[in-house]
This record gives sequence, C-alpha cells and structure tokens, in this order.
Amino acid sequence: MDKLLIQGGKPLRGGVRIAGSKNAALPILAATLLAEQPVTIANLPHLQDVTTMVELLGCIGVDLTVGEKLTVEADANAIVHCSAPYELVKNMRAAVLVLGPLLARFGRARVWFAGGALSGARPVNLHLRGLEAMGARIHQSGGYIEARVEGRLRGARIVMDQVTVGGTENIMMAATLAQGQTVIENAAREPEIVDLAQCLIAMGARIRGHGSATLVIDGVTSLGGCTYEVMPDRIETGTYLAAAAATRGKVLLRNTCPANMAAVLRKLEEAGACLEAGDDWIALDMAARRPRAVSLTTEPYPGFPTDLQAQFMAMNALAQGTATVTETVIADRLGQAHELQRMGADIVVSGNVATIVGQDSLRGTAVMASDLRASAGLVIAGLAAHGKTRISGIHHIDRGYERIEEKLQILGADIRRVGSRSS
Ligand code: EPU
Repeated sequence: MDKLLIQGGKPLRGGVRIAGSKNAALPILAATLLAEQPVTIANLPHLQDVTTMVELLGCIGVDLTVGEKLTVEADANAIVHCSAPYELVKNMRAAVLVLGPLLARFGRARVWFAGGALSGARPVNLHLRGLEAMGARIHQSGGYIEARVEGRLRGARIVMDQVTVGGTENIMMAATLAQGQTVIENAAREPEIVDLAQCLIAMGARIRGHGSATLVIDGVTSLGGCTYEVMPDRIETGTYLAAAAATRGKVLLRNTCPANMAAVLRKLEEAGACLEAGDDWIALDMAARRPRAVSLTTEPYPGFPTDLQAQFMAMNALAQGTATVTETVIADRLGQAHELQRMGADIVVSGNVATIVGQDSLRGTAVMASDLRASAGLVIAGLAAHGKTRISGIHHIDRGYERIEEKLQILGADIRRVGSRSS
C-alpha cells in the first residue's frame, strides 16, 4: 500500500487550480440515467469515487465516451440491468444515488448497500421512505435494496425528518419523471444540490426552490440530453486554505467559488487570515503568523461543513489558544484526534465535542488515515509539523483529492508518495 511522506515545516506558497466537486459529480453522473439522449458532463475530478461511479454506469449498460479534459458523455438508452452489484459499490455509499433515477425511469432498481439501510451507522432510511411515499415498494434481502413501482412514480409531499444531502438528491431525481408534483420539505440546501438541480433543469426537468428548504418538482414524461460543467470543489478549496493557514503560508486558489464558502471563510478570518476573493478565486495570506484558535460546530449548509471539520481541527492543534470542535452532522467523525495526539496535539474528545489546546509545534511521526477527511487533517498536521510524517491508508485520500501530492508540491511542500517497500 502506498504512503505519503512529508517533511514538514515549510509554509505553503503559490497557486493551484481547484478540481470539480466530487460530491456534485457523483449525483450528476447518476442523473444521466434519467435521460433519453446523451448527456455530457465536464469538469469531472479525477478521483477513485468518480471512476467507480462511471464503472457502475457502464455496468448498468450506459454507453460511455470518456473525452479529453475530464469529460464523460453518457448515453443511457441501452440500459440492460437495473442493478448495482456488490463488487462495484461496496466501498462507495454514494452508489445508492442510482436508486431514484433507475426506479423513476425503468420502474425497478436493485442496489447493494453496505451496512444497515434502515439503522446502520449511516442509514438511507429517509431515501427509502421518500421513494415509498411516491408509490415504490421496497424490500431488502441479502444486502440488496430492491425497489419497484407499477407504472410511474407519483408526486407526493415529503417532509424529511432530518436534513440529508443524498436523500434530497435521490428523491429530487426520482421526482423529475414522476406523475404530478413532488414537494420536499426540510430539503438539504447544499450547493451540490443546486448544481444537480441545474443539471436536471438543463435536461428538461421542472424544479423550483433549489438552494432553499422547500423543493418543488413537477414531473415530466421524459428528459433529454445536455452538456453540463460540474461546480468547483468547496471541500478541496477549504482543505488547501486550512493547510495554508496552518503552515503560515500564502496561496491563491483558482477555479473555485467563494460564494459557496461564507461560513468557512469567516472562520479563517477569525483565525487571523487575510483573505481576498473574486468571482472564481480566493487568496489567503497568513503573513507568517500563527493562526488563532477558532471554535466551530458542523451543520448542514449554510453552516460549517462536516467535511472540513478534521482539517480545521488540525489547524487548531497548532493555533494560539483553545478551541472546541463540535460535530453534529455525522456520528463518530472525530477519529483523527487520536492520530493528531500521537503527533503531540493536545485534544480531549468527549462525545461529539473535541477540545483542542493549540501547541507551538507538532512532531512528525507515523500515522494512519482512517477516512477521507481525517486523512486530509493528518496531511495538514504533517505539513506544519517538525520532522517527517508518514501517512498510511492513503487510498482514503485518493477518493476525494485529485493529485494531492502534486498540488502540494506546486505549493512548495516537501511531500511524496512511496510504495510500502520503499518507505
Ligand atoms: N441520515 C439518516 N438517514 C438517511 C440519510 C442520512 O439518518 O436516510 C443521516 C446520516 O447518517 C448522517 C446525516 O443524516 O448522520 C447526514 O447524512 P447525508 O445524507 O446528508 O450525507 P450523505 O448524502 O451520505 C453527503 C456527502 C458527504 C458529507 C455529507 C454531509 C456525498 C457523496 N457525500 O453524504 O461527504 O459528509 O453529505 O454533508 O455527497 C465526504 O466527501 O467526505 C463525505 C463523506
């Protein structure tokens, strides 16, 4: 297994281009199943999860043409199976996003789902409940979720018990081809939902209210083709900003969208960063100062994103002062605290709250990445620490960060990827 080796202590300096958003690309790729003509998706990030989703579409029978500059043309006219098999989806929760589109277009879908769909660590009960309200019959056996409907799905008023990004996406996609109107109350407002809605509208869907807590979808009988460019990745953007702040650096991030990042930019300013932004760029300058500790609580958008919690914990571990980080969106997501402690961080976790007393410095050591965003936190700590940090388990990082070591090298970091035998 590959590892990342980081010789820490160098401030990040320079400019990089932000990739397309993973969490917008995955539902948008799933949405191509709804169209009767080819859909071309541009600005796809080059990531393992995107490759898995493209392979899954191929396996379902979508005719795919991969073009230059991360563009994929998907033609869902010759679908042969309505099934997402175990081998392809076992490591990617987002595979459940094909359920709504397949059911709406073909009246049946079968998706393997890791963990308990109704009560596991991260269940999809709200996706299933919404589809049932639209007339689907759902049944689970042998790890598979099977859904069927006689004729078309029917529009319904669906009140989500909890804000769910994937649940809102699945139901919104299904509703585009349902008979009549669907209203989703307490819908997720994430920019990725807006991006998906805009892509569906370009395919001919009738959607209002995206970006608000009430989504109204008037079903149509068919959707057509379009060309759509995926939005920039706000989590990759926030990760590079936190890394620059933790290393007391100065960076310019291009091809991003500051308008989607208000809560994150506010926290960086509170930490002492000087920020400038245009329509599609953000510049951060720490003027060689140590960041100040910033307390935060993760919340659904427009609150502070759970996907940047680990990166900001790493920054706080090196900051001046004491901060609390409270995780309210995803259970058991403070696992990086333990590895940061091994690097000298002073962090006490109690339930979903971490209290971090900032240290003058951290020391490099061997650490293990346990999930995608936790690994990004460890990379930030390694970049700022004294000495050498060796991060294993980096397949997690490749799920969400395009060419992370190359981009960090461009910013002046001493980081390289090594195979396990050469480490
Ligand atoms: N939940 C339920 N029942 C459901 C659905 C969700 O109880 O039917 C709970 C979950 O267990 C979780 C919370 O609701 O505690 C929020 O889950 P949500 O459905 O919003 O998350 P998701 O759609 O599975 C997306 C992102 C995640 C991101 C979350 C929260 C994608 C592909 N993934 O997941 O991104 O953390 O929203 O913003 O869009 C990542 O990129 O590292 C990542 C994990």
